[in-house]
Amino acid sequence: MCSIIGYTGINSAAPILVNGLKRMEYRGYDSVGIATCSNNRILIKKGVGKVIEVNNNEKLDSLPGNIGIGHTRWATHGKVTETNAHPHSSSSGSLAVVHNGIIENFERLKQNLKEKGYTFKSETDTEIISNLLQENFEQTKDIKKSIIRTVSQLEGNYAFVVIFKDGTLCAARFHEPLIVGIGKHNDYFISSDVLGFIEQTDDAIYINNAEFVLINSSGIQTFDFNGNLIQHQITKVSKEFADVYKGDYAHFTLKEISEQPETIIKAGEKTRDELDTIIDFVKHAKSLYITGSGTSYNAALVAKYLLLKYAKIKIEPIISSELQFSPDSLDTNSVLIALSQSGESADVLEAVELAKKSNAKILSIVNIMTSSLVQLSSVVVGMNCGPEIGVAATKSFTSQLSILYKITNQICGGTLELDFDKVSNSMSEILSDHSKIKEVAKKLKSVSDIYVLGRGIHFPIASEASLKLKELTYIHAEGIPGGELKHGPLALMTPNVYVIIINPNDSTYEDTLNSAREIKAREAKIIGISDRKSDVYDYWIKIPTINEALYPLIEILPIQLLAYYSAVEKEEDPDYPRNLAKSVTVK
Ligand code: AGP
Repeated sequence: MCSIIGYTGINSAAPILVNGLKRMEYRGYDSVGIATCSNNRILIKKGVGKVIEVNNNEKLDSLPGNIGIGHTRWATHGKVTETNAHPHSSSSGSLAVVHNGIIENFERLKQNLKEKGYTFKSETDTEIISNLLQENFEQTKDIKKSIIRTVSQLEGNYAFVVIFKDGTLCAARFHEPLIVGIGKHNDYFISSDVLGFIEQTDDAIYINNAEFVLINSSGIQTFDFNGNLIQHQITKVSKEFADVYKGDYAHFTLKEISEQPETIIKAGEKTRDELDTIIDFVKHAKSLYITGSGTSYNAALVAKYLLLKYAKIKIEPIISSELQFSPDSLDTNSVLIALSQSGESADVLEAVELAKKSNAKILSIVNIMTSSLVQLSSVVVGMNCGPEIGVAATKSFTSQLSILYKITNQICGGTLELDFDKVSNSMSEILSDHSKIKEVAKKLKSVSDIYVLGRGIHFPIASEASLKLKELTYIHAEGIPGGELKHGPLALMTPNVYVIIINPNDSTYEDTLNSAREIKAREAKIIGISDRKSDVYDYWIKIPTINEALYPLIEILPIQLLAYYSAVEKEEDPDYPRNLAKSVTVK
């Protein structure tokens, strides 16, 4: 949700922090701020807006000092205002904190601290951490002890970084990510994501849950929350994380959509043995479940259709945030597959924790292999699609599908005729000409409602398409299972409505075309996504013909592009849709 960052070393901290925050802006982007320590004073600058805007206005990168912390915010406690933007100093100004996560007992702690005379400027829960640290430091006169006391008083999931005005940098992690980059010249970087420091170093320490780090002139030390010293190995961070530039693309979202002909092939490739293990579990599980949120849940829905039709295996998709309402369905004989790009979605992690309590086996399909979900799972297959920066999931969706197809194909003995080169070429064909899609995007600019209709396995794709349209264009969009049209949605069809019909030339074709005719009779506009032309379509977006089972892998691409270009037409930022964040690490 938010990103936190810290630096200490021989260089000027502020420009390094600003640059790192730009790379992590996908995690949260309503406000930004940094604090540095110079001549025993803590200096803070912050503001509302994106990193570039706030830096242009406030000159964040001009703050002096070789030690500092920074933050991009996705508001949870308190409105999007400069006062609520991080960092937050303590009442005395002796330290400042940036924080990601939620402090659940903040109201009680705030009341206690107020009664003791501590003052609060913001509505955030973060300021509690600052004042608690101050109180604990004043009582113990020891930074390590003050961190141990503070974390024992906090409830909730969090990671925070703090600078003390003596120049000590500390950070603590509890169920939110925290990584330390080890620089070449005795310098250290702390970050929510390796993207925050990958341009400076590829040596990293992954801090475990319930641990904290202390960095001062004597170097770095890591402790658990009881104060025991912990030794960590330095890990070489994969170079592919350096691929965080847009290159010639106008936006990350367009770049990531365009990468799909390659990423579907790479999916699962680095973890073939794990893929075989998952296949074995899927074949023999007594009861099989699959969970995810948002786009990942839509991929889970595709798995249901795929496995049942081609492998005769029943798998029950559960929205991660809903699993808590039916925990008894899982037991020792259950296998749960968790799908997540980030591996950090709080809802997914909670679902997995619940399933573990029921002794279910946890298998996961994840993009970020250093994430919390990986640590909670018995077997992990990596999506291997590289960093996805655009908040709207695009390539991660087709990578998830690709792995689910590979699983199904192996179980059904190859009857899917899974030819990834062919799928990849079909994707490239769709991506080779954007002109028709751009033309349709112009029409969608002023539309208030879009429906996306698909039957059978195309319904989850319709749901995913409507999610993309909502996120990127802010137009109300809804997926409709074809047969349900006459049970309600038909009442909404008017000349001002656009309906996207997912209609490949397969066994659903004729029925779906009939639905399109019923809609057309009510004068709504029809956008047909199909390899077969029809007069029913007001706009026909052609897709290549492919083996029937494989259409879901390619038919989402034109709609991803349509959502992207409609956002551009509306002059909205497709990479950072309002109110959203890439990793939703709060419940
Ligand atoms: C997709 O476009 C969304 N941004 C969102 O629904 C996302 O898929 C969801 O939050 C799950 O994320 P995850 O795959 O990282 O767990």
